[in-house]
Amino acid sequence: MKKKLIEQIDLLRKEKNAIILAHYYQESDIQDVADFVGDSLALAQWAAKTTANIIVLCGVHFMGETAKILSPGKRVFIPDLSAGCSLADSCPAPEFEKFIADHPGHTVISYVNTTAAVKALTDIVVTSTNARQIVESLPEDEKIIFGPDKHLGDYINKLTGRDMLLWDGVCHVHAQFSLERILSLKKEHPEALILAHPECPAYLLEVADHIGSTSSILKFATKSDRKQFIVATEAGILHQMQKENPDKVFIPAPPEDATCACNECFYMKMNTLEKLYLCLKNEQPEIFVDEQVRVKAVKPIERMLEISNRFGL
Ligand code: 13P
Ligand code: SF4
Repeated sequence: MKKKLIEQIDLLRKEKNAIILAHYYQESDIQDVADFVGDSLALAQWAAKTTANIIVLCGVHFMGETAKILSPGKRVFIPDLSAGCSLADSCPAPEFEKFIADHPGHTVISYVNTTAAVKALTDIVVTSTNARQIVESLPEDEKIIFGPDKHLGDYINKLTGRDMLLWDGVCHVHAQFSLERILSLKKEHPEALILAHPECPAYLLEVADHIGSTSSILKFATKSDRKQFIVATEAGILHQMQKENPDKVFIPAPPEDATCACNECFYMKMNTLEKLYLCLKNEQPEIFVDEQVRVKAVKPIERMLEISNRFGL
């Protein structure tokens, strides 16, 4: 069944000149069939440069929107349209607009995990790969609003010495890791390094040996001489980590609630191989972005890509 689906996906993507882009948090089968697997920044960079007619974005809704905003002439599909994001949901555009109006004179920086409508209110978009460099590219006395992830914002404030005004949003996956259970894992595996995504709370980042985006965590583990790692980000990343480092041991950081698989993002996992096949076959569900919103939202994303390019990111 799986083999047949993969063959069909392969045929369809060639026939339709489609490219399949997948985020590291997608299920392993999707990562294995994708033309490219990457973090949020890399997915946007691919979406901007691909010559394919169709982009199938195996990730969540805001990733599909970002691809469509950057490549309006292409058709963009996502295997399950209801694959949302708790972080993007924590920042509704009308409330963010009011927050901006209540704090005039601020440059608005938004994490890529936002709706197109929020991006349209933004001056520069960032991802966890480039947030530090983008903030540092602004004059030291520039007043900045940063949304929606308060943990990433707090981490960047500490790194850069800035005092950005933070929106009070979190990702439900990264906010629920258990410090106590991570520390007891570390006792069991004293050699293991703790790797954490900056969407995690400060108390967890304080015990981490490396903090970075999904691609940075992957690169760090691959370069490291150590053999064991406790990984505090969505568990899908372990697939590429293990693939690139078959001799190393990767332990997913446990959630507070020992009875749930809360270190998996259920939005990301809504996409399946079968839905990917159906999406290519039926050319739906499709991502659409209102043109007036798109024209405003593309500017802060292009600004992000331009600054990232300058820093070789
Ligand atoms: P990155 O892949 O940019 O590290 O982002 C993680 C994330 O939460 C995506 O939803
Ligand atoms: Fe959104 Fe968190 Fe899922 Fe990433 S892991 S898509 S930030 S809910």
